[in-house]
Amino acid sequence: MSIVYLNGEFKPIEEAAVSVLDRGFLFGDGVYEVMPVYGGQLFRLEQHLWRLGNSLDGVRISRPLDNPEWEALLRELVKLNAAVDATVYLQVTRGVGPRDHAFPVTSSATVFAMVSPMPEPAGLHGVKAITARDIRWELCNIKAITLLPNTLLRQQALEAGATEAILHRDGKVTEGAASNVFVVVGGEVATPPKSAQLLPGITRDLVVELLQEASVPCDERPVSLDELRGAQEIWITSSSREIVPVTGLDGMPVSGGRAGPVWEAAHSLYQDFKARIRANGTG
Ligand code: PDD
Repeated sequence: MSIVYLNGEFKPIEEAAVSVLDRGFLFGDGVYEVMPVYGGQLFRLEQHLWRLGNSLDGVRISRPLDNPEWEALLRELVKLNAAVDATVYLQVTRGVGPRDHAFPVTSSATVFAMVSPMPEPAGLHGVKAITARDIRWELCNIKAITLLPNTLLRQQALEAGATEAILHRDGKVTEGAASNVFVVVGGEVATPPKSAQLLPGITRDLVVELLQEASVPCDERPVSLDELRGAQEIWITSSSREIVPVTGLDGMPVSGGRAGPVWEAAHSLYQDFKARIRANGTG
């Protein structure tokens, strides 16, 4: 049985309910985080809490808890679910109020958290992706629960026999519908620079850091759609899927239809980092 956290209480998921007047339900008025748990430890917790704070500030929801309180709550949730390798979903909405677009005068945030199983790794065969125009809003650096464009794009990918949609705006790659994007072009790794057009992925940042530490050149620079189409390798990154090789794009094979050598290097750096975290017991 899954135990979730809702507004100060831990309870079985079947017993957790929110008001139909919750602004998350009516307006998608809230923000969220997804963070991995490895060996029972929350991975990159500090970075996820920093981004959560940034998203809350970005949509003007006052921070309901401080970082030590978030940490205590999430650790307790992991413990109650006896989670070993899993993901934690944390959502904060503006709370309950009359249905008016304007913020309610008095409301307290709704805080919800749950643990889910970690998806199976994609492995060397990777996943297929499509390219699609980025139809989202102009504040994609905020991790908002308002995900209708992302769900439409993901569904479009699934219906084309693919897993992810890689998005582009004005001829430049932004990110995946639920991931960040890396390419290998001319033997060098590149990923689009951080901006309001994409989520500052925690996995993305760690991959950049690990590659740089290992002296593998990795450039944070604009990546054109043409470069994406001609790339030697394409990867997508996210907290729930780590680094996934994209082995087909719009029906054409990428790197001969299997993971490339630079992905293998990045993947092994990531696995080594996780092993060190497990050994030290810190995320
Ligand atoms: N999504 N970009 C978008 C639009 C995302 O939704 C995600 C993650 C990422 C990767 O960020 P990170 O490495 O911090 O997970 C980039 C999560 C996993 C989700 O919505 O389920």
